[in-house]
Amino acid sequence: MTQDELKQSVAQAACEYVATHLPNGAILGVGTGSTANFFIDAVAQIKERIGGAVASSEATRLRLEAHGIRVLDLNSVIDEGRDMPIYVDGADEVDANLAMIKGGGAALTREKIVAAVAGRFVCVCDQSKLVAQLGRFPLPVEVIPMARAQVARALAKLGGEPRLRTGVITDNGNAIIDVHGLAITDARQLEIEINQITGVVTNGLFACRGADVLLLASEHGVKTMLA
Ligand code: A5P
Repeated sequence: MTQDELKQSVAQAACEYVATHLPNGAILGVGTGSTANFFIDAVAQIKERIGGAVASSEATRLRLEAHGIRVLDLNSVIDEGRDMPIYVDGADEVDANLAMIKGGGAALTREKIVAAVAGRFVCVCDQSKLVAQLGRFPLPVEVIPMARAQVARALAKLGGEPRLRTGVITDNGNAIIDVHGLAITDARQLEIEINQITGVVTNGLFACRGADVLLLASEHGVKTMLA
């Protein structure tokens, strides 16, 4: 199977998960990236049972709307006292504890906000994303543009090699620094530490709020792992 076929199979499994576990008319959180795109295309088949979607990026919002799925503003959802029982998103790396690195598509901040609200985070990946230790994938960090140089200096002090992602501006108008070569032995601690650097909006470690469920596609089918 090609990687796209694996992504399609896990997207279909996530759609079935939503059909089984999302209460009728409830709100669904939707992630960003190529696997999330396959998921959006799959979930369009059951759009009648979804009360609306919260998008983790502008790209996802546009794709959902193209399928006729109503996209809701997260603030309004919370102000109206509504829940978002399930959030489905991909990852760049995931470990056995379901901690992740995300942000390869530069949507990490909105993804982290939507994940924080969701009852259950369902991560959808092909097996190439499962790793023994996070960190081979460079860690994305979203930064306020005027703080770029000073954040890079602080990240270098943590032992990484920060590289500005050129030609990318996030949906929030910020820059992305990708940190190469970090030794991530304690993902939660590092997530907290990097978020303390003044000028950092957030970083792509999803360890403090990892996934609850991992749907992992391989040649042998889609396996479910729980945190
Ligand atoms: C977007 O910013 C990312 O967090 C994506 O969820 C992640 O990069 C996975 O993307 P793919 O499904 O395209 O690999």
